[in-house]
Amino acid sequence: MASQYGLTFNMSTVAGLILAAGKGTRMKSELPKVLHEVCGTPMVSLALEALKEAGLSHVTVVIGHGGDKVQEELGDAVSFAWQHEQKGTGHAVRMAQEALLGHCDHVVVIPGDTPLLSGEAISQLLQAHLASGAAASVLTCEVAEPKGYGRIVREGGAFARIVEEKDASPEVKALKEVNSGVYAFHTAKLFAALPRVGAANAQGEEYLTDVLALLLQDGDRVEALPFDDADILMGVNDRWSLAEADALLRRKILRRLADSGVTIVDPNSTYISPQVKIGPDTIIEPQTYITGQSVIGRNCHIGPSTRIKRSVIGDGTYVYFSHVADAELGDGVKVGPFAHLRPGSQLGAGTKIGNFVEVKNAQLGPKVSANHLSYIGDATVGAGTNIGAGTITCNYDGFQKHRTTIGENVFVGSNSTLVAPVELGNGSFVAAGSVITKNVQGDALAFGRARQEVKEGWAVQWRAKFKK
Ligand code: UD1
Ligand code: CA
Repeated sequence: MASQYGLTFNMSTVAGLILAAGKGTRMKSELPKVLHEVCGTPMVSLALEALKEAGLSHVTVVIGHGGDKVQEELGDAVSFAWQHEQKGTGHAVRMAQEALLGHCDHVVVIPGDTPLLSGEAISQLLQAHLASGAAASVLTCEVAEPKGYGRIVREGGAFARIVEEKDASPEVKALKEVNSGVYAFHTAKLFAALPRVGAANAQGEEYLTDVLALLLQDGDRVEALPFDDADILMGVNDRWSLAEADALLRRKILRRLADSGVTIVDPNSTYISPQVKIGPDTIIEPQTYITGQSVIGRNCHIGPSTRIKRSVIGDGTYVYFSHVADAELGDGVKVGPFAHLRPGSQLGAGTKIGNFVEVKNAQLGPKVSANHLSYIGDATVGAGTNIGAGTITCNYDGFQKHRTTIGENVFVGSNSTLVAPVELGNGSFVAAGSVITKNVQGDALAFGRARQEVKEGWAVQWRAKFKK
């Protein structure tokens, strides 16, 4: 199996491990740290994505604080190992022994709180690790401000050990090469060394970093591999670094989209999640949010002021000043301004949804028009049908939801109330202002309103009555 970076290896021999048991005290949150979102995606999911991008599909996540919530978020995409007490990164890895030892030849370990970590960085480390035959390899970065990170100590250019900030002498603190927290290990050697890691350090923790020095002492090969983009190691420890990571990742996502042929009119006010796919020649206007696994076609015009969540949008579609969630829009659809497409909305090609129209759990089109002030919920609307201004599907009786089925080329007059369950046959007409409670056959005209009466000259008499 080849990852997108051209690395070739046998999938079953390399596994991934995400360390995500820590509490993240400085977040001051009920939510475990790794579930806080960066660019609309929980950090632990970003970590998983990065491993997948590097071609690793067997992933274990070490959980502890709020572990059940993390389990709920990731579901059965990964396996889990519990670390009930957080006794350090080495201890965390030890908790995954059963899941890993004997199941993979090598394991890539990454933190769950570094949202900028890329699949490319992991892939580069793994490739070098497998090629060198090292027992352990660690990815490092050169940074201007190394504060808070483990320092890489080299002797004669070769890796010697990692020293944590809190255990470092002034000379070591001055070193600018730091530990990214991303490692590749020979699985058996890792678990053979881990029990020998002590906790005699400033934090009283079992440091995973100590494994590297132990392996060196055993005569094994250990490599520290510098990576040139130091952004990848940015760790989130508090809400402010969460915002900074968001800004940094957002910029990278927008840049990638721009490079692939998408116009981002204002990168400062455009928020797009990493998984979103957008076709070339699509224009994204300011104040637009696109999240989840949304897919947007080519030649679309999205925004301004639009929110699209977990939706699929065809080619040449225009959505502006609108909110779209869990919806599917075909080619050449027009939505907005001020439309609300709720979950289960499916709009066929060429359908038009105008101002103050809400659609929910409804299949429309192709070529349906609902241009003004309507609610279409739990409904099917056939091709070419026109829904007049103010049409409401009354889908709820206070207890249950009911469906409205509207055929093809139907004309629903303005301000009509369709009381579900009800059906309008193909080619039927509904007179404006009707309350429709019974099915209407194809090509019929339905009136459901009081007949108009006109009293000639009545107003003259009325006025005369009050004249003094
Ligand atoms: C760690 C490294 C440091 C490196 C940095 C890079 C160690 C000892 N230090 O420091 O050299 O520069 O990462 O980001 O490894 N975790 C658990 N269980 C625990 C402790 C931690 O699951 O008992 C998880 C955390 O949830 C987090 C990750 O491991 O996702 C890293 O732990 P953290 O405490 O943030 O380590 P750092 O101090 O950042
Ligand atoms: Ca950290």
